[in-house]
Amino acid sequence: MFTAADFIPNKYTSTIENGNFEWSAPSNIALVKYWGKKDNQIPANPSVSFTLNNCKTITKLGFEKRENQNSFSFDLLFEGKPKEDFKPKIQKFLERIEIYLPFLKEYHFTIDTQNTFPHSSGIASSASGMAALAMNFMSLEKKLNPEMTEDYFYQKASFLARLGSGSACRSVKGNVVVWGNQANIEGSSDFFGVEFPYAIHENFKNYQDTILLVDKGEKQVSSTVGHDLMHNHPYAERRFAQAHENLDQLITIFENGNLEDFIKVVESEALTLHAMMMTSMPYFILMKPNTLQIINAIWKFRNETQIPVCFTLDAGANVHVLYPENVSAKVLQFIKDELVVFCQNGQYICDQIGEGSIAL
Ligand code: DP6
Repeated sequence: MFTAADFIPNKYTSTIENGNFEWSAPSNIALVKYWGKKDNQIPANPSVSFTLNNCKTITKLGFEKRENQNSFSFDLLFEGKPKEDFKPKIQKFLERIEIYLPFLKEYHFTIDTQNTFPHSSGIASSASGMAALAMNFMSLEKKLNPEMTEDYFYQKASFLARLGSGSACRSVKGNVVVWGNQANIEGSSDFFGVEFPYAIHENFKNYQDTILLVDKGEKQVSSTVGHDLMHNHPYAERRFAQAHENLDQLITIFENGNLEDFIKVVESEALTLHAMMMTSMPYFILMKPNTLQIINAIWKFRNETQIPVCFTLDAGANVHVLYPENVSAKVLQFIKDELVVFCQNGQYICDQIGEGSIAL
């Protein structure tokens, strides 16, 4: 049985004075949602996501050996400029992962990060951001322990990313990623994300995700607070069980390519996520009127055309429109004709399934 202690390294065999690495890590969109967690970022239920291709964080990590080793030392740059307000989150991340990367206080780091999507788009950058940082730290650990296997490298990167932000562990490797123990998925773990290990039907190849930016404002309730409200939530236990059931269904759906069934699971998951928010105490609503306008327009279009397009939602008002590649032209036309009016400043982002983090 794997335990977190397995990622505490033995003495390193090599040393390195200074250098830098650079990684890009993508965002991901969950189909079965992670909502609710236990201590140490252990999810209350398993989740599965499509890795995105275009929405990414690119992070360069400079490092240099230093003398004083009592505290962490780092500078944080966002798009080339110092960004003080991101520092507490990074500080907390370093504290959480220090026992797994005991060299962290031995270096001064310069973390230089940027996103490929507009900063204020309301797209969460925590998943891609934490994943990109975790990849860089693993590159450094690999220099200190050159014998490290590739499996260990990616598994531990996902494990560390999870400690930064749960969903970040699904942004490391693979185009369909499962995180959380699921009896019927071999190798699945609460500690890190794994590539979905079974057959995936052609229908899902290059699956499209067009992200409609409905509301770019700061969320009134953060994910962290939302997760916390699943403790003592009246429907929590049933919801967690349902996530397992939906993930089991997706195993079959990924294999047989049945898009009608896919749509049922995915839309139900999205609405259940928001139903959990509305039935928390205190309760809250992250959807906006235009979120509902879009959902209704998608349902009407699907009914009228039989084109298998559906939606999912994150913890926010934006809508992810999901559809197979072979209906792209028709769906994009529909988006332009009928959905763009509901987007803030008419903004949307075209994305599709991608591969995971890349060393640059
Ligand atoms: C609704 O991963 O952002 O997007 O672990 O507290 O950082 P923390 O939460 P986070 O939660 C994401 C929730 C979600 C669903 C999902 O991505 O599975």
